[in-house]
Amino acid sequence: MAVIVGGIGSTHVPAIGKAIAEKKQNDPYWQPFFKGFDYVHYWLARTKPDVAVVFYNDHGLNFFLDKLPTFAVGAAAEYRSEDEGWGIPVSRPIPGDPALSWQLINSLVADEFDVTMCQEMLIDHAVTIPMALMWPGAAWPVKIVPVEINTVQHPLPTLARCLKLGRSIGRAIESYEQDLRVIVIGTGGLSHQLDGKRAGFINKEFDELCLDKIVADPEALTRYSIHDWVEQSGSQGVEFLNWMAMRGAMTGRVSELNRNYHIPISNTAAATVVYDNQMEAKRKAA
Ligand code: DHB
Ligand code: FE
Repeated sequence: MAVIVGGIGSTHVPAIGKAIAEKKQNDPYWQPFFKGFDYVHYWLARTKPDVAVVFYNDHGLNFFLDKLPTFAVGAAAEYRSEDEGWGIPVSRPIPGDPALSWQLINSLVADEFDVTMCQEMLIDHAVTIPMALMWPGAAWPVKIVPVEINTVQHPLPTLARCLKLGRSIGRAIESYEQDLRVIVIGTGGLSHQLDGKRAGFINKEFDELCLDKIVADPEALTRYSIHDWVEQSGSQGVEFLNWMAMRGAMTGRVSELNRNYHIPISNTAAATVVYDNQMEAKRKAA
């Protein structure tokens, strides 16, 4: 059976791609951010996942404002990226796991989540930057199932809905008969606003509250409306919806193993967090 071994939350700021290309990891600006990935590398080397389910938001590469699904699941054998105009190298393709994708899609639809299914899907910086951070250098040792959440064009799904989407995906993974070690990843955030009067807005106090609550009491965060969230976290801070879905997918006993919070990376409060999900213990106890 498949096991969800843990989760990772990471920002996806495109400028990170440029810093990697220019080998700036040890520059004073970048070092406090990149060092937050030392633990991630150690944990991934120990945990050895086979597949990553990546909750992210597309920024206009695969979907645009004319057609934008609230939730979409990739079901491709390979995911390519393209030039998004950030001046960063185009990522190499990432292999998919169509069989696991269909397990998720079938299970989600049976659970009344009417998702868009994508047998072709371009992935943007919201997938490729966290991948490059998690597995620098060598070939990526995992397949991915990308799950897109609309954080771009209002109305957005609620925090509660994204938590439930994650929970449904968690159940779909747990009931998958293949012996796979799965990690779940939430990308983006934390607080940031890229445009308008509040461009550059960051809210450390609120980010810390989110990082505390998401572990032990994610339900507490569902009382914020999307409008409250924009007020507290900035108009792009709503990318936290991806983190809520990632948290929902961890159906075991969740604990925070490591946290790095650094302000700013470009315009964004960057959080890098590793979560343990004790599913095996839960199963043994059952
Ligand atoms: C930035 C942050 C984002 O989430 C994004 O998608 C693009 C840019 C930034 O802070 O520069
Ligand atoms: Fe973004």
